[in-house]
Amino acid sequence: MPAPRPRVWVSQPLFDDIVDQLAAHCEVDAVVEVTEHDPVAIAAALREADGALITLNERIGAAELAQAPRLRAIANVGVGYNNLDIPALDAAGVIATNTPDVLTGTTADLGFALLMAAARRVTESERWLREGQWKQWSFSTMLGADIHGSTLGILGMGRIGQAIARRGHHGFGMRVLYHNRSRLPEAVEQGVGASYVDFDTLLAQSDHLLLVLPYSAASHHIIDAAALAKMKPTATLVNIARGGLVDEPALADALANGRLAAAGLDVYEGEPVVRPELLALRNVVLTPHIGSASLATRRAMVQLAVDNLLAALGFGPRAGHPANPVTATKTRTANTAADRITGITTIAGTGKTAAGKR
Ligand code: GLV
Repeated sequence: MPAPRPRVWVSQPLFDDIVDQLAAHCEVDAVVEVTEHDPVAIAAALREADGALITLNERIGAAELAQAPRLRAIANVGVGYNNLDIPALDAAGVIATNTPDVLTGTTADLGFALLMAAARRVTESERWLREGQWKQWSFSTMLGADIHGSTLGILGMGRIGQAIARRGHHGFGMRVLYHNRSRLPEAVEQGVGASYVDFDTLLAQSDHLLLVLPYSAASHHIIDAAALAKMKPTATLVNIARGGLVDEPALADALANGRLAAAGLDVYEGEPVVRPELLALRNVVLTPHIGSASLATRRAMVQLAVDNLLAALGFGPRAGHPANPVTATKTRTANTAADRITGITTIAGTGKTAAGKR
């Protein structure tokens, strides 16, 4: 008797024509309206699932996994995966994947858009004009800070940080400084035109500081009141990574009291709720977490996530070897097409295999 097809939960409406590819191998339970799933709903959705295609809205940890005995694979549609409890997934033997690379340029572009809008007061000017406040052209209207020739600071120097550095260095003639957990090889630094500095030097010397580092317990509120106090009062802060990197009340206070010139935020600690203190400020540009939101890139992300999920479940050209694992785990109950044939369990990310099953 043929083995039953895996069941897959798709947590949000994505692109139907791409998600439909799952149906060639799986029974698909796809949510058709944008939905806020609470932990109970997520656990219920995963109870019978072998795999899941999810977004950053869905948090999955030990409690949800404990109720999902069949779950083997989670494909996160996004590069950041702080919504996933990786040690819990590792312990449960569930492979998780993300969608790097395909969104690098698009997200770097938005970082620059926020930087330019904040430093040159673009959205503030537009609101002022629409309010009918422009009575006469004047020399001193909306004076901002230059981008070209200034010092760009980048905190977190992964793929997106490097793409921002290239834009700043090659496109705008900026002096680019960065700080990262580990220093890049010299050849990479030279290629992107960036110099490594310590965290305090980055804060002190940046005319514009972009946050592009992953969020974790270690990076929680890395930009707090003390860090803000070390920045130039003329500086711009841009966050396109995760809201929890910034102590938002401290940021609002610095922006309100002239201790920081401007900010551009795409992400928020309590999103989609944005603090009233931020909403009230004129010198902050606010976008609703749209870093990777070009049509082409969002389609590419969904395609990559579908490919990853199928591979993790044992289908397609990369069966057993999804391209973008973020767990270093053996697969759970070996029940994939590949496993049925070979009896082999894959160690994700290593390309190695190990006999036996968990
Ligand atoms: C979006 O924030 C992502 O992590 O892809």
